[in-house]
Amino acid sequence: MNKAELKAAILQAKEETGTLVLAHTYQDPDIIDIADITGDSFALSKAAAGIPDKKRVLLCGVRFMADTVKILSPEKKVVLSHRSATCPMAEQIAPERVRAFREANPDVCVCAYINTSTELKAECDVCVTSSTAVKIVKALPSDRILFIPDQNLGGYVSQFVPEKEIILWDGCCPTHHSVSVKDIQDAKAVHPGAKIAVHPECRKEVVALCDFIGSTSEIINYCLSVDDDVIIATERGVCDKLRRDYPERGFYQLAQNKLTCPNMKMTTLQNVYDALLGNFGDVIEIEEELRLKAKRSIDNMLKYGG
Ligand code: 13P
Ligand code: SF4
Repeated sequence: MNKAELKAAILQAKEETGTLVLAHTYQDPDIIDIADITGDSFALSKAAAGIPDKKRVLLCGVRFMADTVKILSPEKKVVLSHRSATCPMAEQIAPERVRAFREANPDVCVCAYINTSTELKAECDVCVTSSTAVKIVKALPSDRILFIPDQNLGGYVSQFVPEKEIILWDGCCPTHHSVSVKDIQDAKAVHPGAKIAVHPECRKEVVALCDFIGSTSEIINYCLSVDDDVIIATERGVCDKLRRDYPERGFYQLAQNKLTCPNMKMTTLQNVYDALLGNFGDVIEIEEELRLKAKRSIDNMLKYGG
């Protein structure tokens, strides 16, 4: 099948199997095209909390996103588009270390980036996403926060909440953390008039040189709200889609080789089709006691994040 035929076959298979397809904004634009709901991690979590009457959900993204859908919609059959698509940040801390930290610091509130395993979420008080982290940390009743695992997002949040003590872990997203100040300087030299939009998973010295900081959906909204050219400092899926949909605009990808997340790019259109037919992907199963513990952190995120 050529691409157009494959897309048509996917739409038909969605219909026939009663499957809702959710896709993160880092997915290939062709996958975004065939998805029912797309967005950043918070948008996908909110969608998962109110999934309409479909039997099956196919999540195109990485494992923690499919786990979040299953945690919030246990009655659905939830399938991850590619068995090996995992976010390396999700397992940068052993759950026992969080338990030990909490025992030694009983007053601390443990706040987990949503890019964490279900086992880690079960040890935490609340989850955050990049678009909700500042709001949620401000609203938490505790003044001492352990923020896991992303040191860059945690450091970014702490600037806006100076009244609280925010203890950082030393985790990071290998894709965003690899961006350097030189990458920004080089891109500015090539496109001197352009604004720069960056994801807060980048290092603080990189973020400091940029004009706009936000989640993937916020970066897309920013790009569409300004007339300027924009250099985009996040995973290339965002820029690929904007360039394709707005060929007349000046959108430029920063450090393309670095900002290609191998896990987000694992899923192909063919995988989506095969997963819809039940021949590919991974069915998510979570033991009920663990699910309920992890759900508390996600429920708190939805409560404090709005
Ligand atoms: P957001 O979707 O919250 O911007 O997060 C980006 C990300 O890296 C997801 O893996
Ligand atoms: Fe994980 Fe970074 Fe890839 Fe997002 S871009 S899935 S945080 S490795």
